[in-house]
Amino acid sequence: MVETMEITPSPVCLADFADLARTVLSAQVWDYVDGGGGSEITLGHNRAALDRVGVLPRVLTGVDTPSLRTRLLGRAYAMPVGVAPMAYQRLVHPDGEPALAAAARAAEVPYLASILGSTPIEQVTATGAEVWFQLYWLRDRGLVADLLGRVRDAGCRALVVTVDVPVLGRRLRDVRNAFRLPPELVAANLPGGRDDLAHGGTPGVTPMPARGGTAFAPALRWTDLRWLGEHCDLPLIVKGVLDPADAVRAVEAGARAVVVSNHGGRQLDGVPASVTMLPEVVAAVGDRCEVLLDSGIRGGVDVLRALALGADGVLVGRPMLWALAVGGQAGARAALALLADELRDALALAGCADPAAARELRTVALG
Ligand code: FNR
Ligand code: LAC
Repeated sequence: MVETMEITPSPVCLADFADLARTVLSAQVWDYVDGGGGSEITLGHNRAALDRVGVLPRVLTGVDTPSLRTRLLGRAYAMPVGVAPMAYQRLVHPDGEPALAAAARAAEVPYLASILGSTPIEQVTATGAEVWFQLYWLRDRGLVADLLGRVRDAGCRALVVTVDVPVLGRRLRDVRNAFRLPPELVAANLPGGRDDLAHGGTPGVTPMPARGGTAFAPALRWTDLRWLGEHCDLPLIVKGVLDPADAVRAVEAGARAVVVSNHGGRQLDGVPASVTMLPEVVAAVGDRCEVLLDSGIRGGVDVLRALALGADGVLVGRPMLWALAVGGQAGARAALALLADELRDALALAGCADPAAARELRTVALG
């Protein structure tokens, strides 16, 4: 594997990886990764709302080299950041999931493996990464139970249930592009390697639909979540809540953490930015569960913003695919190293010795 990435000019922020990725990905794949649901109102709000979070730095705190180390779900990580679960990573680079997982391992951060990975989960955990497995609920509980067994045997550290995909959002770019997954790309964790979310489309209508799927079970209920808690001894994380009342219900159903997320603006268009809902969710769950945030995180200052608003950590989505596309494992390592540098600087500039101190910072809304 390549250990260093030689790109000129060298990316100095995560957005630079986007510019590079755009030059190596086909227009259709770029749009699949970059796009959002409907008119992409929520996609835009995710960024705009983060940019309106003003963090008040503290001065004369005697900090010059902060520690980024943190604990999530009782385990130690190098920084309060995880790689968000994202489907079909071989779509953007032939090394796919194992390369991104290996980069997460090098950075000592959790790698969230999508059930729609294009590599079997066992090959992902074989990288030595701390892997949290992300589940989309399947109609066949027997299949879910089998998968949970594999996930446990493979050494995954947590189970993440994504609850904001009763059906796949209407991704207009994908519809216009008539985007199809290449036939050789398989859902490597599912029997037969095909999934109804991505492969079961009606030609010419919705290229990546969940509608009418047979493998996935859109009508997921709270009782299913309880069943999952009872059949899996891994810590349970519920990903994709925006309403504080749902976060409280997740805690009551046994969740150890919730991810405040609108799926990177890819699902219901017009919902608020995740960061807009973060403070209410934090207030509602108190210290009964950990709270992670995703959707729009693009640098160390965004991580600081999330921490200041009470998050325990963040997940980063698209930037990791950009970096993987550009430089495989080395690219992803470079992106995570850059993010760590940015977060270290942001903490120091805000007078924080560590992520816990950042959670004490005040914020003000920028105009
Ligand atoms: C995703 N996301 C996602 N989430 C999930 O729970 N399971 C999945 O399989 C996928 N697949 C997926 C594919 C692609 C291409 C993207 C961009 C996203 C959503 C992801 O986990 C996360 O919530 C968002 O990507 C976070 O927003 P940003 O950081 O991309 O803005
Ligand atoms: C997506 C699904 C697969 O966002 O989660 O594309």
